[in-house]
Amino acid sequence: MVKKNACVFISGYGSNLKNLIKSSRDVTFPIKVNLVISDNKDAKGILYAKKNSIPFFIVNTKKRNYESHILSKIKKYKISIVCLAGYMKIISKIFIRKFGKTIINIHPSLLPKYKGLNTYERILRNKEKKTGCTVHYVNEKLDNGKSIVQKFFFIDKRDQKKNLKIKTQILEKKAFPEAIIKIFRYS
Ligand code: GRF
Repeated sequence: MVKKNACVFISGYGSNLKNLIKSSRDVTFPIKVNLVISDNKDAKGILYAKKNSIPFFIVNTKKRNYESHILSKIKKYKISIVCLAGYMKIISKIFIRKFGKTIINIHPSLLPKYKGLNTYERILRNKEKKTGCTVHYVNEKLDNGKSIVQKFFFIDKRDQKKNLKIKTQILEKKAFPEAIIKIFRYS
């Protein structure tokens, strides 16, 4: 099987990046992570790129044309899929059109509920009975593209933000690889 080249965008801890790198070690997993983009030079996730000798590129989002720099890297590394894993910048319409291939994102809620930021706080405030994560296609509206994989759990009355996040992120580690397998199985 010829693996597709994937680029993972991060901003912070990078636990999903770490997990995708791990999944990629399986010969039957459809992608290999061969480029990492971070908008934060201090993102811990960069260490996983370094550790695994994956090229990484830190973008200066204060520069107007920073997405053009990303696009040129993506072209250079022949990327077929972009995986947003905790990337805190909004991808522009121009980027989506110019890349023209698959972009997916992982979001810590059961979309279409709780798009945007501060999901855990809002979920708790609204006394939701269940929550989870969604891997979805990225389109031109925030957290709005078609869902690929969703996983949920029931919220315990004692759950606070910290354990809601832990439980959600455990599911994310299953959902992201599953979504990638699903995309390439049917393409
Ligand atoms: C994840 O929980 C994801 O749902 C959200 O940002 C978090 C990133 O975590 N979009 P990590 O950097 O992969 O550890």
